[in-house]
Amino acid sequence: MSNRNVKQPSRRAFLGGAAAIGAGVVTSSTAQAQAADPLIVNPQDWAQSFGDGVDATPYGLPIEYEADVIRRNVEWLTADTVSSINFTPIHALDGTITPQGCAFERHHSGAIDLKKSDYRLMINGLVDTPLVFTYEDLERFPRENHVYFCECAANTGMEWAGAQLNGAQFTHGMIHNMEYTGVPLRLLLQEAGYDSSGKWVFVEGADASSNGRSIPMEKALDDVLVAFKANGEALRKEHGYPVRLVVPGWEGNMWVKWIRRIEVTDEPVESREETSKYTDTLEDGT
Ligand code: MTE
Repeated sequence: MSNRNVKQPSRRAFLGGAAAIGAGVVTSSTAQAQAADPLIVNPQDWAQSFGDGVDATPYGLPIEYEADVIRRNVEWLTADTVSSINFTPIHALDGTITPQGCAFERHHSGAIDLKKSDYRLMINGLVDTPLVFTYEDLERFPRENHVYFCECAANTGMEWAGAQLNGAQFTHGMIHNMEYTGVPLRLLLQEAGYDSSGKWVFVEGADASSNGRSIPMEKALDDVLVAFKANGEALRKEHGYPVRLVVPGWEGNMWVKWIRRIEVTDEPVESREETSKYTDTLEDGT
């Protein structure tokens, strides 16, 4: 890039800076304050030529100097990354919204690649009219935006058997908080005409594991969202692109990603994913 029209900073400005430092201006490092800081007194490369033009990154990524703010996996925790978890770098974030790019991932059989144009969502079972929605069909329903946190049932698990790993990322990083955009599940169930004998919905993902989960109808009609955006942008692949379920306040494993089918049933299905794992003992011991 040419430096033709770049104006050089005046020498007086730098000398002025040096004089101020010499006069004892307090900086974060008193030792440095005594010497002339080259970052202040010398002309810097970045001020002597043009920066990037507006289209250098049509969809921006974090700058390379923030490369340590990333999700982290613990290799010995699982046999393979396709059925594993990584952790949100909560120690390095501020505010309340988690950027999608570093929000923890939990997959039972890997994050799948599913195009919007190949997307289908079926509602069947105890309904008047079984329906299949395309992505465009979902977009035609009234949408809502809500901020919800998602927490894996295993969050803090790294401490259940005594401290195993240092750092908040590993002990408490199975959590993220995002603003979701989606259609209330209630509206889709109403469209299909759910039967009053329908007491549960069984939701299933399009991935190999399917992560099928049973949700009581009362919850399904309350605040469950069929979401297609998070923090204003399309869901990332790893978070269920193009469409996932958001089940506010209920453990992360219910938030079925790549959701493909919702069956209205009269009782919980007790699928593999909700009996072989994610079960809690009731007070009576069952
Ligand atoms: N949905 C499908 N289809 N497949 C999965 O493996 N994992 C579940 C849930 N939904 C999973 C899924 C689990 S156990 C959790 S904790 C959350 O997704 C994690 O969501 P995230 O990967 O967006 O953080």
